[in-house]
Amino acid sequence: MQKVVILLLCIVMAIFFGSVLVVSGEQDAEDMCVPMGSIVLGAPDGVEQKRAPVDFPHSRHFGFECQTCHHKWDNTSQIQGCMTSGCHDVTEAATKTKQGTPLRADEIRYFKKAYHESCIGCHKVMKLKNRKIEMSGKKLDGPLPNPGPSSCIGCHPKEE
Ligand code: HEC
Ligand code: HEC
Ligand code: HEC
Repeated sequence: MQKVVILLLCIVMAIFFGSVLVVSGEQDAEDMCVPMGSIVLGAPDGVEQKRAPVDFPHSRHFGFECQTCHHKWDNTSQIQGCMTSGCHDVTEAATKTKQGTPLRADEIRYFKKAYHESCIGCHKVMKLKNRKIEMSGKKLDGPLPNPGPSSCIGCHPKEE
């Protein structure tokens, strides 16, 4: 997967994620801890969580390039969280643009908008791909790939 060398080191770190992987860039000596398993995604400080936090299976997404989500990553430095200051750190929705117009930069800085666009956006694309395969009438070797959840309850398991 791109220039990242995933080292064999898997340190058991029971504190938070269960385990972590150490990844290093090709020219970089510095190691980075990559959370394996699931990451619990919740609303940032100051926002009342209306839906249950999301249990995000990070490593099940490693079939995609890291930059699909970590789109500002330069392949070498430590990856920053999504709600890092200056990124998707806005806690209130911006006024909406008209349907069909591209997202504005200030809209996508709202953490919820960013997560929903990325997470639900991709899962919907995957679902659509599956539907196209189904419609094509081609004979399948096995079940269609899991597209990931796009219903509220699929990510926010229970009301809080
Ligand atoms: C489908 C989206 C997605 C993909 C693909 C993905 N990640 Fe992540 N990753 C996330 C999310 C979401 C978080 C949680 C960020 C947060 O808490 O703000 C995260 C967190 C991390 C963190 C911890 C960052 C921190 O806040 O300290 C590291 C390191 C990381 N990912 C590395 C990787 C690497 C390396 C790859 C490629 C092998 C990868 N990720 C692929 C979505 C993804
Ligand atoms: C680029 C595409 C893509 C992005 C972005 C993405 N996902 Fe996924 N997601 C998938 C695919 C494909 C699967 C199925 C993986 C599998 O079953 O191995 C999946 C699986 C999941 C599952 C497990 C569902 C199950 O059946 O157990 C959850 C939960 C999930 N994603 C949440 C998220 C969240 C939250 C984000 C945003 C932080 C996100 N995903 C971003 C493609 C994506
Ligand atoms: C693919 C996963 C996914 C799906 C599907 C999804 N969300 Fe989210 N949602 C997230 C993530 C990730 C966050 C950011 C972390 C958090 O705040 O829980 C979020 C945040 C939120 C928030 C802001 C935080 C809070 O709890 O108040 C609300 C409200 C919300 N989602 C409602 C919904 C509703 C309603 C639906 C269905 C229409 C939905 N979500 C579908 C992943 C998803």
